[in-house]
This record gives sequence, structure tokens and C-alpha cells, in this order.
Amino acid sequence: MGDFERQYTRVDTVRDILDKLIQAIPDPDRQRDAYVHLYGVGQACALIALKRGHDGEYAELACIAGMLHDTAKFEISQDVPEHAKKGALRAWRLLAPTNEFTEEELTMICTGIANHSDKERKDDEFSEIVKDGDAMQHWLRNPAEAYFSGKSRNVALREEFGLNLC
Ligand SMILES: [Fe+2]
Repeated sequence: MGDFERQYTRVDTVRDILDKLIQAIPDPDRQRDAYVHLYGVGQACALIALKRGHDGEYAELACIAGMLHDTAKFEISQDVPEHAKKGALRAWRLLAPTNEFTEEELTMICTGIANHSDKERKDDEFSEIVKDGDAMQHWLRNPAEAYFSGKSRNVALREEFGLNLC
């Protein structure tokens, strides 16, 4: 087998941007939480998108939305209600100058981020993936923790993924 050469993708572009934001968080505990949650939600969003029949490129956008969905929350250090809208605006400002995304893709990503806190409401398919990815990461952080595993979105995700084990 020949040498494996990794492809540099848009996820890597966003990783470079995100790492700088996380490294600017002064508290090391919050920094760790940000790494775990933001990258975890990114991967959960990718998995959910693929499970729902989307292709790799769509899953890449879902992953990127997940990676950036809470940057405003970690910056402000509080779960203020407007963090989703602030985060969406910020994501647009961060991603647009890379010139790696079309306007349609930016709109999808930023709409997903803007909507992600409204977990009780049903939005467009992409936004629902971001919400479910957010819920899934909290659940998988420790599947034994009843609070997150009992959330209605996670109950539905277990059903969807055939994981109705408990
Ligand atoms: Fe989150």
C-alpha cells in the first residue's frame, strides 16, 4: 500500500480557525470543554447527516456547523439566550473570507447555528441535524447519565440508530 496522503479539506480550514478561538479562552477547563463539545458535535452532525442519506459533502457542512455552533457561548462564558444568533453571525464572518464556501452553503451553516438552541421547535432538515448533533454529544459524553440520555431528542436518536438497549 502506498503512502497515505491526507487531503486538506474545509474541515481543516475550520479547525485552524476554531483552534485559535479555543486557545484564546483563558480558563483551561472551559478550553477542554470547548474542544470536546465542539469537535464532538461536529462529528455527531456528520454521522447523523450520513445516517439520513446525505452525501459526504453535505455531512462535511453539517460537521462544520457543529464545530462552530457554540463559539459565542464559550466566548461569553455563559449560556445567554442569544448565543445561537451571535454565533451564526460570527460563523459567517469567519467562513466568508476563506472563499471556500458558496453563499448557499454559508446560509445553510449559519441558519443551522442560528436555530440550534430552539430544540422544541422543528426547523429545516439541516438545522435539525445541528440540534440533534448537539443533543447527541451531550448524551455520548456519558451514556450512563440519565439527564441527557432521557432528553426527547436522544430518545428519538436511539430509535433512529437502533440503539434501544435500555
Ligand atoms: Fe452545544
